[in-house]
Amino acid sequence: MRLKDKVALITGASSGIGRETALLFAREGARVVAADVNDEEGRETVALIEKEGGAAAYVHADVSKAADCKAMVAFAETTYGKLHILFNNAGIMHNDDGDAVSTEEAIWDLTMNINVKGVFFGCKYGIPAIRRAGGGSVINTASFVAILGAATPQIAYTASKGAVLSMSRELAIIHARENIRVNALCPGPLRTELLMKFLNTEEKKQRRLVHIPMGRFGEAREMASAALYLASDESSYVTGTEFMVDGGITAAYVTPE
Ligand SMILES: NC(=O)c1ccc[n+]([C@@H]2O[C@H](COP(=O)([O-])OP(=O)(O)OC[C@H]3O[C@@H](n4cnc5c(N)ncnc54)[C@H](O)[C@@H]3O)[C@@H](O)[C@H]2O)c1
Repeated sequence: MRLKDKVALITGASSGIGRETALLFAREGARVVAADVNDEEGRETVALIEKEGGAAAYVHADVSKAADCKAMVAFAETTYGKLHILFNNAGIMHNDDGDAVSTEEAIWDLTMNINVKGVFFGCKYGIPAIRRAGGGSVINTASFVAILGAATPQIAYTASKGAVLSMSRELAIIHARENIRVNALCPGPLRTELLMKFLNTEEKKQRRLVHIPMGRFGEAREMASAALYLASDESSYVTGTEFMVDGGITAAYVTPE
């Protein structure tokens, strides 16, 4: 088991990448704290883990709220004694997020509060807990859009993921000598609810698929596998990276026919 005796806190664990990662981490021996705002689905994540014989607990946490993030970290330590792995994964892509001209300030603020401030709060309260445990791994979900621009505009989302990537780099440097590694996981376009709701017509989906050398959307479980590597001691010399898991999208100039 690759995460035996580890305690992992995962935000956005009710769905998509977060849920798949919670399931995989638990199979690899971790005790998992699943945090989300969607309580029903979050409890379902825990039930799925328990059904497989794993250990997990759910905590309601809106990552844009400092008090909730403080409480979710305290919950992890109270429930399982320590915290070794923090996966700041919760994020939104709003349907009204467009170009700079059309996007309302409220959409910008909402996106930044969840996608950026949520990661900051996770680290603000999670890093001291990881320090108390003697070290560990922080994984922040950014995106391939942190380094590539798109003609399908989502200005707030794109800016938020750039911030997550640059924040992750600095955190990695600051905490490098404390045995705390910090990496940004940068998924390509995935077949999860988040993107499929945004690319809500076949034409929009095809427009995106054209740019992916592999010619398909990624799956949440493929991100979970990458997160497992970054969480485990197998990546013990890996910190500050932009870990691209994107079907080749960021390497492509022209894609195959
Ligand atoms: N799907 C993609 O194509 C894609 C690509 C690159 C990056 N990402 C990123 O991956 C992460 C996970 O996305 P996903 O595809 O699994 O989406 P998803 O919508 O399936 O899951 C996101 C989860 O975050 C939760 N959430 C939303 N707001 C929250 C808040 N304020 N506090 C706590 N939880 C909250 C939701 O309830 C949901 O369970 C996000 O950060 C997203 O930006 C996704």
